[in-house]
Amino acid sequence: MTSNSWAAIFGGGMPMDFGKSWRGKRILGDGKTWRGFFSGILFGTLVGFAEMFLVDAGLIRYSPTHWGFGATYLDALPLLVVLSSGALLGDAIESFGKRRLGMERGQKAPILDQYDFFLGAMLLSFIFYFNWTIENLFNNYNWIGLILLLILIPLLHRGFNIIGYKMGKKNVPW
Ligand code: CTP
Ligand code: MG
Repeated sequence: MTSNSWAAIFGGGMPMDFGKSWRGKRILGDGKTWRGFFSGILFGTLVGFAEMFLVDAGLIRYSPTHWGFGATYLDALPLLVVLSSGALLGDAIESFGKRRLGMERGQKAPILDQYDFFLGAMLLSFIFYFNWTIENLFNNYNWIGLILLLILIPLLHRGFNIIGYKMGKKNVPW
């Protein structure tokens, strides 16, 4: 969930497309860097652990890994890495699409901007943890949670980006 915010904080340096273009447009653009990609995965995973810790401490009720995944932090590690990587990949794929449409870095892409990381995380968890994803995200019990999440995502996304913008980490507040 927070992976992409970390990318914005720690990103910079070598772009993931190494500055290369395809058909006259940048492949991904300067907004997608290796440092942002890997720090997003790393810190996204650490936040996942922090959530598990908070659940264990009784301070919050849910973290994705508590939906019938492993009991220990080590059990949850692969899932957290998959979710975080998916989020950053979704973000990069979105940039790829934006560049193909001729959109500049940071230009607004409604809906995609908000859901890219969620869709990416879902896609990768479908690939790696198909049964877990079906059982825990799309079972009857979690439908309400899923709908709440879909409403919450744009709001949180907006909030994080305004903070990032004020911190001078993002060029635009979306
Ligand atoms: N970032 C990064 N590496 C990534 C993802 C993000 O360095 N893999 C950093 C960049 O500094 C980027 C910022 O996080 O500008 C915000 O991310 P995002 O909104 O996804 O990028 P945009 O600059 O809006 O670019 P795009 O139009 O490609 O989405
Ligand atoms: Mg953007």
